[in-house]
Amino acid sequence: MKGNLDYKVGTKAADEVGELSRAFDRMTANLKKSRDELEAYSKGLEERVEHRTKELADKVKESEELRHASLNLLEDVNEAKNELEMAKKELQKTNRKLKVSNRELQDFVYVASHDLQEPIRKVSAFGQLLRDSLQGKLNEDEQENFAFMIDGASRMQQMIRDLLMYSRVSTKVKPAERVDLNEVIEDLRNIELAIQLEETAGTIHVPEPLLAVQADPSQMHQLLQNLVGNGLKYQRNGRRPEIVVRSSQEDDNTVRVEVEDNGIGIAEGNYDKIFVMFRRLHSLEEYEGTGIGLAVCKKIVDRHGGNIGVNSTMGGGSTFWFTLPAGG
Ligand SMILES: Nc1ncnc2c1ncn2[C@@H]1O[C@H](COP(=O)(O)OP(=O)(O)O)[C@@H](O)[C@H]1O
Ligand SMILES: [Mg+2]
Repeated sequence: MKGNLDYKVGTKAADEVGELSRAFDRMTANLKKSRDELEAYSKGLEERVEHRTKELADKVKESEELRHASLNLLEDVNEAKNELEMAKKELQKTNRKLKVSNRELQDFVYVASHDLQEPIRKVSAFGQLLRDSLQGKLNEDEQENFAFMIDGASRMQQMIRDLLMYSRVSTKVKPAERVDLNEVIEDLRNIELAIQLEETAGTIHVPEPLLAVQADPSQMHQLLQNLVGNGLKYQRNGRRPEIVVRSSQEDDNTVRVEVEDNGIGIAEGNYDKIFVMFRRLHSLEEYEGTGIGLAVCKKIVDRHGGNIGVNSTMGGGSTFWFTLPAGG
């Protein structure tokens, strides 16, 4: 019985040991699994930390670069600002210089044309006296040479007169006032252009009363005298000049005036050139002139803040136009 019992006890103990050992094995296996998991987890964590650290480092580097770039940009902007400031100063300096040299040039033109008047008058007057007193004593060639000389002198006189007129547009300035252009045209008909109108049998037609402008009155006489005078002059032989003067109100408180003729016309390529001083499209044999008239017109209109120009068809007449402040 005891032996059996012993056997039984022995088997039970062995069972328990087996059980224990299996439990131990399971535990060991579990532990190993946990350790592996922990290891894997910590490795993953390490990798993630490393990755984040690298990401952060990249971000820091990026923002550092950005900061650098914006600093450079700021520097560039400042540099550009300085350059602009310098260019502005330079421009102001050049402007002042230009004003001074313009003034000097104006003074020079005035003094030169004014002082040249007297000697050229003498050349012309004494030349004519001499021609009269030598009448009949010169041969044909000598007479012709003499005529050339006197003609040259009187042309020079005319040029000097016109130059002086050009110079006086800015030196002899009267304050602007309301100018009735109808009266100006009436004066041109009866006084300034009376002879030319008679010689050419020309007419000045004003279909509708002209609007008033705000300007220097004597310069309005000069302006219209030059434009209408050209219309009478640049005409085909034998054709009667017909000039039409019109005005219209523009939106921006200015008046536009048009002087239309039925003359020879102007090629489009020459529209700008003719307003340049001494610029002529015709020889003296064809039409007399100094080439200063339209330069005077432009100077007058510029001075009043207006614009001037021309539209034309070759052979079909020209329309000169200008704008000036409205006279109210
Ligand atoms: N109404 C016009 N028709 C055709 N040509 C013109 C007219 N007005 C001016 N011109 C041309 O423009 C040139 C410049 O005119 P302007 O300055 O008045 O000088 P000028 O009449 O003394 O020659 C003239 O020589 C002429 O060739
Ligand atoms: Mg002229």
